[in-house]
Amino acid sequence: MKKYLVIGNPIDHSLSPKIHNFWLKENNIEAIYEKKKIDENQIESIISDIKEKKISGLNITVPFKKAVIPFLDELSPEAKKTQSVNTVYLDNNKIVGDNTDIAGFKKSFEENQFSALDKNVLILGAGGVVSSIIYALKKLGVKKIFLSNRTIKKAESLKTLFNDLTIIEWGILPEFDIIINATSLGLNHDDKFHLDFTNIGKNKFFYDVIYNPKETDFLKTGRKLGNKAENGMMMFIYQAMYAFKLWNKFEPKINNNLIELMNT
Ligand code: ATR
Repeated sequence: MKKYLVIGNPIDHSLSPKIHNFWLKENNIEAIYEKKKIDENQIESIISDIKEKKISGLNITVPFKKAVIPFLDELSPEAKKTQSVNTVYLDNNKIVGDNTDIAGFKKSFEENQFSALDKNVLILGAGGVVSSIIYALKKLGVKKIFLSNRTIKKAESLKTLFNDLTIIEWGILPEFDIIINATSLGLNHDDKFHLDFTNIGKNKFFYDVIYNPKETDFLKTGRKLGNKAENGMMMFIYQAMYAFKLWNKFEPKINNNLIELMNT
């Protein structure tokens, strides 16, 4: 039986097996999708399993999206620019790394009825997914991207990939239309954001990459202050959809059963 895999550390929280096994079953594809917690020194042997066709497709999550790159033969232009790979497959005997986080984020944004065009965006965090978010926001035509991270050095290193970023100190809020939480703050139910949003005005858009819990303190605060708020569930679903498409050459359907499954 064909096998797909997601690797990361930690990996317990990953919903990728749930969504991909749903689509495999629904499309009568005889295959299984599993998750595996790994250490960095195992990446090489997992990649060779792809070459030997023991694994038909691989997803990569935190913290290995960059670490996997040296073991690949080719990168998509998006993966290259963001230095971030979340989907790997074999094509003409070459191991290819792609990045579907970008298209996933972009599609979730296009469907949320808050246009990003010409908007000022503040991104909080500088972890593995942020280069993909920046790339997608640029494609969506935003005006300016501010980036703020607790550890400023990590924010500055993203400037080497995107030199028009404006880095600001953690705790300072510039004028923005859209604010994106890309930190891990909120993953724990009792995590609190110690930023003061009371003077930001209304009709902003709060977007949290976190989807479990469904409503973080960040989203709750934004919503209570009269702003639109959305979690990262659709980004997650769409990045999985595009990964599935790379492997199976067709787009799996997103129906109510799937949304329900993901929310339980
Ligand atoms: P990785 O960096 O391995 O990709 P990540 O989970 O994607 O991991 O990134 C974690 C992000 O959440 C980082 O931007 C981190 O900030 P630091 O670079 O300063 O570590 C941010 N983060 C985690 N806990 C935080 C906290 N208590 N307050 C503010 N930012 C926090």
